[in-house]
Amino acid sequence: MKRTQHCNELRPVHAGQTVTLVGWVHSRRDLGGVLFIDLRDREGRTQTVFDPADLPRDVFEAATHLHAESVIEVVGTVRTRPNGTENTKIATGQVEVLVKQFTVLNHAEVLPFPVDDPEVANKVNEELRLQYRYLDLRRPEMIRNLRTRSKVAIATRSYMDEQGFLEVETPTLFKSTPEGAREFLVPNRRDPGTFYALPQSPQQFKQILMVGGVERYFQLARCYRDEDLRADRQPEFTQVDIEMSFIEREDIYNLIEGLLKRVWKTALNMDLPTPFKRIPFVEALNRWGIDKPDTRFGMELVDFTEEFRSSTFKVFAGAVANGGVVKALNAKGLAGATQGQIETMTEYAKSFGAKGLAFIKVENNEWKSPIVKFFTEAEKAALIAKLGIEEGDLILFAADQWLNACEILGKIRLYCAEVLKTQGKLTLDPQRFDFLWVVDFPLLSYDKEMNRWYSSHHPFTAPVAEDIPLLTADPKKVRGQHYDIVVNGVELGGGSIRIHQPDVQKTIFEKVLAITPEETQLRFGYMLEAFKYGAPPHGGIALGFDRMIAILCNTTSIRDVIAFPKTAKGVDLMTSSPSTVSARQLRDLHIEVKAARKEEPPRPA
Ligand code: AMO
Ligand code: AMP
Repeated sequence: MKRTQHCNELRPVHAGQTVTLVGWVHSRRDLGGVLFIDLRDREGRTQTVFDPADLPRDVFEAATHLHAESVIEVVGTVRTRPNGTENTKIATGQVEVLVKQFTVLNHAEVLPFPVDDPEVANKVNEELRLQYRYLDLRRPEMIRNLRTRSKVAIATRSYMDEQGFLEVETPTLFKSTPEGAREFLVPNRRDPGTFYALPQSPQQFKQILMVGGVERYFQLARCYRDEDLRADRQPEFTQVDIEMSFIEREDIYNLIEGLLKRVWKTALNMDLPTPFKRIPFVEALNRWGIDKPDTRFGMELVDFTEEFRSSTFKVFAGAVANGGVVKALNAKGLAGATQGQIETMTEYAKSFGAKGLAFIKVENNEWKSPIVKFFTEAEKAALIAKLGIEEGDLILFAADQWLNACEILGKIRLYCAEVLKTQGKLTLDPQRFDFLWVVDFPLLSYDKEMNRWYSSHHPFTAPVAEDIPLLTADPKKVRGQHYDIVVNGVELGGGSIRIHQPDVQKTIFEKVLAITPEETQLRFGYMLEAFKYGAPPHGGIALGFDRMIAILCNTTSIRDVIAFPKTAKGVDLMTSSPSTVSARQLRDLHIEVKAARKEEPPRPA
């Protein structure tokens, strides 16, 4: 390549040298007949100067016709900028290149949106950015995100290698399994009516690798889930997928704490303090109302079940009499909430199944609330003591079954935090990372509608050994050897110690999850078979790689850290995929499309 430097490299020490730079026309200014072009490449920007006094007339003329984002090569002399014209915002701001020759490598047409504007992401609608992703990727912020992603992938691989792990690829044409999210199916041309499924994770393969004696496996694995998409979910995404033999939970905690230390050091030059806190599921729900608590701010939930057991306020006493609880939180500084805002909050709580949202506003030394008239002095004193009530506070209550009450107030806590943020009363330090492990999850959850138990995580998670006898007798009491790693309220990853005894696994499938023996055989027969021939005790974890990078890049959307993401509707706007296929392709696959196709949505202009 003819390039002598990248566009971020030139400094005053280079003054007098002849250099060759290549890149894109970032911006152009015409000052008194002299043309200033900021040339940009992946690494940065350099100011180039086209002076008609130094260039043949036609060459200068050609430069005046360049559009933004045309690709050019310039040859010129480096000089320091005259006093007062330095640009402190860019690394090369003390110098400029006086152009002697230049070549247009390619002309750019007028762009659908400007690439030189740092505010593009806020101003241009995301659909347009995704349609022209190649332009969007030229923005420094996007390059920075891709660079972080690449560096973290490499750091992960070298850390795992140092720890004795083998990187093994597993198939992405897999078999349909009924547990978990909806799958993407791939029709099999050779045997009409049969399908592959794209894997939701390499879970089964990695366990089989343990039976295969690999002992320590990892992979940056592509996973596919046909589920409702959000800012933190894509239909295809990447996991740092890990499995180890002959281990206990503590081994996974140590390994992952070491990995995250390495990653944070690599990406942010930060030293993460370890070990991370370990918080039992029940405590997480009791204190923060969620199994992925954001502990960067307070507003913890407080229990008042005993205080209101025989209250004259029937809503509370009634909930307790029904086996439920009364919980409250203190949203400090929100007493100014209007009636309308409280109603909005109540509706929000109701959308999660709340029956109401009792409240107390503490304003002008007075408790403003429709319910305080029911409270005794002792009840009020308990509220003051346990919630630290002061002027300006807003107290919110949920009276319900334990899990509901916790989850409702957990949502309200996050809602209040958002309100406090917009009011400038809560600011979170972007350099703060509250990591924690959530442990001791219930192995099973009950699906009231389907009238059956299902796995809280997945059906391969081992019960805590002493709880095994309860599996059929009292399933809700069984704790799973499952753990989640959480940071700032985001579930970064999860995993478990697995079942390695075929009889326990069969009991889970058939007796607990009520999968018929035929179905078990059809779906998991090969696993049960494999486990008969010497399966080592094993366990593992998967970290959401996209989520981890998004946190490192301080963005809330994983789309910002994926080169070619899909929209919330699962569409790739750049290639217009998914798309129809020819009648012949369908015939080859023995597929007939019965539903009428919806009109093609209009493409963004
Ligand atoms: P789980 O289903 O909890 O566990 O997934 C692990 C992590 O993957 C990330 N993740 C996603 N990221 C982006 N888009 C999605 N649609 C998406 N779904 C999940 C999350 C999540 O914490 N096989 C088990 C792991 C194990 O037991 O070892 C598994 O896949 O960050
Ligand atoms: P009511 O007696 O139903 O008019 O309710 C009085 C207040 O208690 C209102 O502010 C309701 O929103 C609230 N409320 C009703 N049910 C519950 C509940 N289960 N938990 C918390 N607050 C409730």
